[in-house]
Amino acid sequence: MELGLRGKVALVAASTEGLGFATAKALAAEGARVWIGSRDASKVTAALGRLRGEVPGASVEGAVLDVTDSGSIAAWVRSAAEAFGEGIDALVVNSGGPKPGLFADLDDAAWSGAFDLLVMSAVRLVRTSLPGLSARGGAVLVCSSTSVKEPIDGLLLSNSLRSATVAMAKTLSVELAPKGIRVNCLAPGRFATGRVERLDKATAERKGTSVEEARSRALASIALGRYGEPDEFGEAACWMLSPAASFLTGQVVALDGGQLKGSW
Ligand SMILES: NC(=O)c1ccc[n+]([C@@H]2O[C@H](COP(=O)([O-])OP(=O)(O)OC[C@H]3O[C@@H](n4cnc5c(N)ncnc54)[C@H](OP(=O)(O)O)[C@@H]3O)[C@@H](O)[C@H]2O)c1
Repeated sequence: MELGLRGKVALVAASTEGLGFATAKALAAEGARVWIGSRDASKVTAALGRLRGEVPGASVEGAVLDVTDSGSIAAWVRSAAEAFGEGIDALVVNSGGPKPGLFADLDDAAWSGAFDLLVMSAVRLVRTSLPGLSARGGAVLVCSSTSVKEPIDGLLLSNSLRSATVAMAKTLSVELAPKGIRVNCLAPGRFATGRVERLDKATAERKGTSVEEARSRALASIALGRYGEPDEFGEAACWMLSPAASFLTGQVVALDGGQLKGSW
């Protein structure tokens, strides 16, 4: 299927590893011009090298970005415009994951840090990209989590704060529809990234079991019996952002190998 992304400009936040990187890669493979970023300059350089190596002819550039810092977001979006021109066709709202923990483990600093990381990052990324998106009528995709549909053990901050982002995305999908901008959320279950490796270790420590035991318990809850591959996330994200998904807006799509047990 032709996704219609050739030559389109896509900004992918938090994209030097994991799901963000895989999304940038899928977009680049479809011929989009992709702007990446994360906090560590050496990781940005390495990720650009990997993208150019894995996708021959890829049009990819990037810069340092801290999504918890409004100044950094403004500079990142401005540099994208200098590299690719003013219009934006696709924006991926992504960040690192919040600290795991139970209620008693999390102080005010943990809550407000996670609010900046998950909620304000989305507000600021969308706000700053809006002039560029409005010029083209593009698509926004928020990287969320199945925690918005079913709370995950030991991930109170994700369970609580991602719901605010999903509600914001739904509201925006209505508000921005007249400008031709679609807004959706892609909610991953468990994908084989550095984040999930760290979470499996944290669960093992909390439960006093081995990492293998924590991992096999997690696998037992997934109908397909495995973690997702980041590229599987990238492919789905790429389609949701593309003109091929032109009637899709205001949705939260769970991508979880059959982990969620409800029908909806
Ligand atoms: N993997 C899963 O199965 C899964 C499931 C549900 C939800 N999620 C959520 O999806 C998101 C991505 O997950 P992942 O597994 O790909 O995570 P990951 O493997 O930890 O990768 C995170 C990426 O984000 C960047 N990053 C972290 N903090 C940042 C910040 N403040 N500003 C800019 N970039 C930042 C990191 O680079 P730097 O360190 O250089 O900044 C890295 O490139 C997270 O929010 C995670 O909680 C993941």
